[in-house]
Amino acid sequence: MVAISDLRDRPDFADVVADRVWRAFWKDRGHPLSLLTGLVQKNLEAGPIPTGLVAHEGDAFLGTASLIACDEEGRPHYTPWVAAVWVEPEHRSRGIGAALVAAAADAAFEAGAGRVHLLAGAQRRSFYEGLGWIVLEADALREGMFILVRDSDRAPSP
Ligand SMILES: CC(C)(COP(=O)(O)OP(=O)(O)OC[C@H]1O[C@@H](n2cnc3c(N)ncnc32)[C@H](O)[C@@H]1OP(=O)(O)O)[C@@H](O)C(=O)NCCC(=O)NCCS
Repeated sequence: MVAISDLRDRPDFADVVADRVWRAFWKDRGHPLSLLTGLVQKNLEAGPIPTGLVAHEGDAFLGTASLIACDEEGRPHYTPWVAAVWVEPEHRSRGIGAALVAAAADAAFEAGAGRVHLLAGAQRRSFYEGLGWIVLEADALREGMFILVRDSDRAPSP
């Protein structure tokens, strides 16, 4: 059975999360793996932001997503963000990516956010739109990059 856990409860997955996120999003930009290892360690500190989530079947790693304060320094007024969404290639198209994104957004709403953001390239836009996310900015920051948002349907606290 697929479970989604907070990395604070499964810190044994921290190294594989750092490795996959580094390979997918950071390696080609010349950043060392040690930078990601350090960032992922911050997900083990007191929450709620940042929070790292891991999808797993028992001890088998399936995927990850994070909730972070800022994914784009040019938009400091947007916070928080869902980021670093990754599903192991052999486990794609099982609904795991959708479940991770939903869980990260829920963590944001649980923390009191009314809106959560994410940054996606053109090839991932339809994935997020299919999950109910709405484009807030097209060609944001550079051509072909989209900022999408999802709003909480929880009543604001009195
Ligand atoms: C994008 C990614 C996270 C999707 O994970 P996944 O577990 O395969 O996605 P799901 O099975 O939950 O798919 C959910 C829905 O999105 C659709 N979908 C999946 N990948 C898609 C894509 N690339 N484009 C459009 N729709 C997509 C699925 O068909 C499914 O629709 P359905 O519910 O109508 O069947 C995964 O392909 C991945 O890790 N890619 C590499 C890293 C990456 O690009 N991360 C996102 C950075 S912004």
